[in-house]
Amino acid sequence: MSDTTSSRFAHRLQGRPSITAEAVTMARALEHLKPEGQRVVDDPYAHLFLSRASRAALAAWSGSLTGRTLRRLGQAGTTYVPLRHRFIDDHLSDALDAGAEQVVLLGAGYDTRAYRFAEQLAGRPVYEVDLAAISRSKAATIAKHRDAFPATNMVRVEIDFETQGLEQTLKEAGFTAGAKTFFTWEGVPMYLTRTAVKATLDAVSAISGAGSVIAHDMWYLVDDPSPMGTARRLAPNALSFIGEPVTFSIHPEEMDFFLGRHGFHIKDLVVSAELQQRYAPGARVLTDDSMYVLAAERADTD
Ligand SMILES: C[S@@+](CC[C@H](N)C(=O)[O-])C[C@H]1O[C@@H](n2cnc3c(N)ncnc32)[C@H](O)[C@@H]1O
Repeated sequence: MSDTTSSRFAHRLQGRPSITAEAVTMARALEHLKPEGQRVVDDPYAHLFLSRASRAALAAWSGSLTGRTLRRLGQAGTTYVPLRHRFIDDHLSDALDAGAEQVVLLGAGYDTRAYRFAEQLAGRPVYEVDLAAISRSKAATIAKHRDAFPATNMVRVEIDFETQGLEQTLKEAGFTAGAKTFFTWEGVPMYLTRTAVKATLDAVSAISGAGSVIAHDMWYLVDDPSPMGTARRLAPNALSFIGEPVTFSIHPEEMDFFLGRHGFHIKDLVVSAELQQRYAPGARVLTDDSMYVLAAERADTD
């Protein structure tokens, strides 16, 4: 790719916050409308980050006849986004119990784990890394609703993975190199170029200590030749129309090899149907097996 093409491509989200970040936040806000015991994840802050139009849609849904009927019937229906979030929550919780000293949310968007896990974090820093536009917009929302959020040790870090070095940027933000760390990269690598994906993994591997874990998801093109398969292949392409093209994918069978070349081995990989079995058995779930989520541990090279 030429320099001109790559810089044009890299800056598509510099001017405005990501729409896909808001879409997944909406999915978490919808999940919060369910009765407490039926939520796959519980994000009480998600709704605060929604645009006025999305908040109106959420209010309409929560007050609608369909919404009320579904809740009265105790429907635990959900989608892939809360399921993948829950998977990463569980790995985060395990990592904190196992002594992770810091957390890094790569492409943090409106992820509220710094607040939802404030108690378990007990002062351990959470580095929220993202493009400037969304990072600043999120900070403004938190400042506006300061009293709604618990105290936490969140460090805001602005970066463009396509053009800036993660290792240096994190160090400048106060990250402790070599410490056991939990990284999330949720809903992000599929929007990056292969060069940025590899550079990010290499930086994570170089900067983190033995036993560090990275949890992320991936999207790949299914080889089902039927019209349904074609529809599923079109879905990621459709995101190009909102300026967030899906540009990177790896089949789950090849993921361990790919991650292995960057110093990680997979400890848990789950495709969406298995996610449903794990977190919402028997529920009505809208998922697509071209999506999967994994947690990988840094190989012990120290
Ligand atoms: C689908 S959102 C996911 C947000 C969050 N991880 C979550 O799951 O709620 C994708 C995120 O990746 C970020 N992102 C995309 N391209 C990026 C880049 N080149 N550098 C840094 N962040 C990027 C977007 O700003 C956005 O916040």
